[in-house]
Formats: sequence, structure tokens, C-alpha cells
Amino acid sequence: PAGNDYEAEDATIAQGVVESNHAGFTGRGFVNYDNVIGSSVEWTVSGPGAVDLVLRYANGTAVNRPMDISVNGTAVSSGLAFDGTGAWTTWQTKTVKATLAAGPNKIKAAATTANGGPNVDKLSVRTADDEAPSAP
Ligand code: GCU
Repeated sequence: PAGNDYEAEDATIAQGVVESNHAGFTGRGFVNYDNVIGSSVEWTVSGPGAVDLVLRYANGTAVNRPMDISVNGTAVSSGLAFDGTGAWTTWQTKTVKATLAAGPNKIKAAATTANGGPNVDKLSVRTADDEAPSAP
């Protein structure tokens, strides 16, 4: 659906915990990925259509926390960089384009290094029909 936000804390979390100790998140909190390879968050989003997947995250370290982004098991971005944002309370977005199939789609963001992922607040799914994106 157009313009929808999907909170990470409501998604399927593998090797991560919901926390709310760093301000600036939307919803009830964010996911703190375990600091291991393969920790992940997976959202279910209804298609079809061409979309922008907008991941809102914070990384209070100075080290990139790359993640593989996949849709229904197919990579749409491998090792996408989630660079340091300066503080755990400073949230930024990273956008990748994808095409969703009809019906439910599994959109997964999985850490590729032993540092785990960044803290992830939400996934926003935007289509060409959406109004101009606003600041998060
Ligand atoms: C700190 C921070 C967490 C973060 C973690 C990490 O513990 O408070 O929010 O997830 O570092 O490095 O992954």
C-alpha cells in the first residue's frame, strides 16, 4: 500500500531486541540488532508494484553496519551501507528501489558483519503515487 510505515518493533525479529532508550524513534521503539552476522528484521508488505523501501536507522558508532536487503528471498541490495549517524539518537534514512509481487511480500534487512545491524526504527514503503516524501 502507498505511503505506509511499518515499525521494526512490529516486524519479525531474529536475533534482536526492541528497545526505546534512544530518543527520536517512531512508534514504541526500535530494534537493536544483536551484534552478530545474520541478525535481521523482516516485514510483510502487500504488493504489487514498484516501490522505494526507506529504512530509518541510527548507528552511534563510527563503523558501517552493512545489511543485505531482500524481497521474498531475492537480494535487492547486498551489503547496503548503514554508516555512523553520529549518535544513537540521530536517525537517518537509506532508500532502495524494489518491485513487490502481488500479495504479501517478505522484506528482510539482515546484518552482514559481526557488528550486527544498526538500530532500525521503521520501514516506509513509498510508491510513485505518494506525495513528495517528507522529512522523517
Ligand atoms: C549500544 C547502544 C545500542 C546499540 C548497541 C550496538 O549498546 O545503546 O542501542 O544497539 O550499542 O552497538 O549495537
